[in-house]
Amino acid sequence: MFFDAYTGSVMAIAHRGARSLAPENTLFAVSKARHAGAYAWEMDVQMTGDGQLVITHDETINRVSNVAFVPEFLDRKPWRVKDFTLAELRSLDFGSWYVREDPFGQIAAGAVSATDAETYRGALIPTLEEGLRMTREHGFRINVEIKDLSGLPGDDVVTRKVLEMIDRFDLVEQAILSSFQFKYLLQARDILPELPTAALVEEENMPEGDILTVLQNLGVQAWHPDKDIVKADDLRRVRDAGLFVNVYTVNDLREMRFLMNKGVTGLITDFPQRVRGL
Ligand code: G3P
Ligand code: CA
Repeated sequence: MFFDAYTGSVMAIAHRGARSLAPENTLFAVSKARHAGAYAWEMDVQMTGDGQLVITHDETINRVSNVAFVPEFLDRKPWRVKDFTLAELRSLDFGSWYVREDPFGQIAAGAVSATDAETYRGALIPTLEEGLRMTREHGFRINVEIKDLSGLPGDDVVTRKVLEMIDRFDLVEQAILSSFQFKYLLQARDILPELPTAALVEEENMPEGDILTVLQNLGVQAWHPDKDIVKADDLRRVRDAGLFVNVYTVNDLREMRFLMNKGVTGLITDFPQRVRGL
């Protein structure tokens, strides 16, 4: 299963791919994650208006695409994923914003070459299928996060569709499913119990009561907490119970070292290239 290759050295899980080195949630970012030596890549799944699974983080696409500059789509503002068909999304450029904004300063720092940066222009939004295929072809590992679609079309079918696709690509051994929406984790336990799951926890969805009990009731194999909510005592108890603890989003080297010393098993990071040095 996903954690079988864990040796005791902290796992680098590349957040939205290696998003410091390439436009987030694109196949370029997956490639950078592999070359940075990441254990796995993490990504976000949402559903288009015509029911297709795509990889993108925000509910709207204007931050990571050129949609705001396309006259044809001006009347779609605020440009929600659910208001576009897959074909429409695939007509957009999900790469040039990264070159323009250099969001992590890695082009300016020379960590991303000008040649690489030019290839990012025109990057397509990947489908889940493409993300899984690339993972399979490279023998890589993947953390599939299902974004909370509560109240949106697709909420009742998204888990089943995602799991069917993971199974179809024969990635049950190399994938983990995570979500802030715990009902998806419970559904996954029923539909495909052999696939490991992780509960994403932040301040906003913090469950009441003892975290270890919550995790055990969900039947998850891992806890993926926001770094700002992790308490040393909880971490120790969850680890002692045999669960993995992979903390997000940890980019700072001192924080990485601190959390490693506290016993986390993995770091979900925009900079997987930094973890190797630890
Ligand atoms: O999976 C960890 C992390 O990706 C969760 O937060 O908002 O970046 O999807 P977010
Ligand atoms: Ca995510």
